[in-house]
Amino acid sequence: MTELCRLDALDATGSLGLTADLGDGPEEIFVVRHGDMVRAYRNSCPHTGGPLEWLDHQFLDDEGAFIVCATHGALFRIEDGFCFAGPCKRQSLSGIPVRVEDNRVVLA
Ligand code: FES
Repeated sequence: MTELCRLDALDATGSLGLTADLGDGPEEIFVVRHGDMVRAYRNSCPHTGGPLEWLDHQFLDDEGAFIVCATHGALFRIEDGFCFAGPCKRQSLSGIPVRVEDNRVVLA
């Protein structure tokens, strides 16, 4: 079982960028927590393939309601990474299956 981070490393609504080996070597990913919901995605915007965060570990909009890409402002749903606004509308982030176990976020 691969631990990505501790659950309490994330605010109740928060995000964390990290490097993880998903099987093909190290990749930049991020973990998002919104209450009881925890999701992880590759840090690669479908628009250009570039990273999304606007500051270290900051992947959410001001209200913490959506994932935002800092480069051109695309907005993604936290629950499934679906883009509903911006230049990559109707595309999705690449999701990474995770689960929470003993206060740890682990690869599922
Ligand atoms: S690079 Fe993400 S919206 Fe353009």
